[in-house]
Amino acid sequence: MAMMEYDAAAARGFVSQRGLTRSGLAGWRVAVQPYLSGRGTLLDVGAGTGVFADAFAGWYGTRVLAVEPSSQMLRLATRSPGVHWCAGTATALPLAAGVAGAGWLSTVVHHIADLAAAARELRRVLTPGAPVLIRGTFPGRWHRIALFRYFPEAGRVIDERYPAVSAVEAAFATAGYRRVCLEPVGQPAPRVMELAATLNRSAHTPLRLLADGEYRAGLARLRAAAAGPDTRPAMDYLDLLVLR
Ligand SMILES: C[S@@+](CC[C@H](N)C(=O)[O-])C[C@H]1O[C@@H](n2cnc3c(N)ncnc32)[C@H](O)[C@@H]1O
Repeated sequence: MAMMEYDAAAARGFVSQRGLTRSGLAGWRVAVQPYLSGRGTLLDVGAGTGVFADAFAGWYGTRVLAVEPSSQMLRLATRSPGVHWCAGTATALPLAAGVAGAGWLSTVVHHIADLAAAARELRRVLTPGAPVLIRGTFPGRWHRIALFRYFPEAGRVIDERYPAVSAVEAAFATAGYRRVCLEPVGQPAPRVMELAATLNRSAHTPLRLLADGEYRAGLARLRAAAAGPDTRPAMDYLDLLVLR
């Protein structure tokens, strides 16, 4: 059971809010290149609407297998050449053994109830020695994301409900994976006025998990900030955890 349901409203919100532009992915392109370039077919688990699957197909000219459980996300997913979509979950990948040379999970691990089972599935469908790249926000590591300046309670949701780096590593270790690197990667932060004007709660798991009063308080802080000078940092930092 995912931490939130990616229903029609969430899927629409995700498309309108969470889709990074290709130029916004420049930092990620540099960070993942050593692990994904030249690995042949790539696997994107919980691919959402295809932001990264599309980018990988374009950057590397390779085939990308995009697995996604939500019919609503699948409905809104881009259909780019080179990206092959299928319905499935991280713990039951509808793929044959050894079909891909690297795995990618972006802002997905907190939705996977049994991470050890997901690690075993990745071990099965990836070629021997293939890396698994995990993009996300972990407990204690969300302070450099603009949204949480206004919604610190949502940061605490991450502290309390999301798996820690050590928990992810321990689960993947049961399938023989070890850490290769853990590094923060920058991406352009939304401008505060834009964030205040367009924020869609359905698109953000930690906002969905807030009490309504906490969400309203954060929204008031965000709107007050939007009325003043924009002092937010230019970049948000999420983590890249690479296991092999
Ligand atoms: C925050 S979205 C991220 C989408 C995409 N990876 C991205 O970064 O743009 C999380 C995605 O994980 C998917 N998801 C939820 N539970 C999952 C599971 N058990 N296995 C695989 N994907 C899952 C959701 O349907 C949703 O599309």
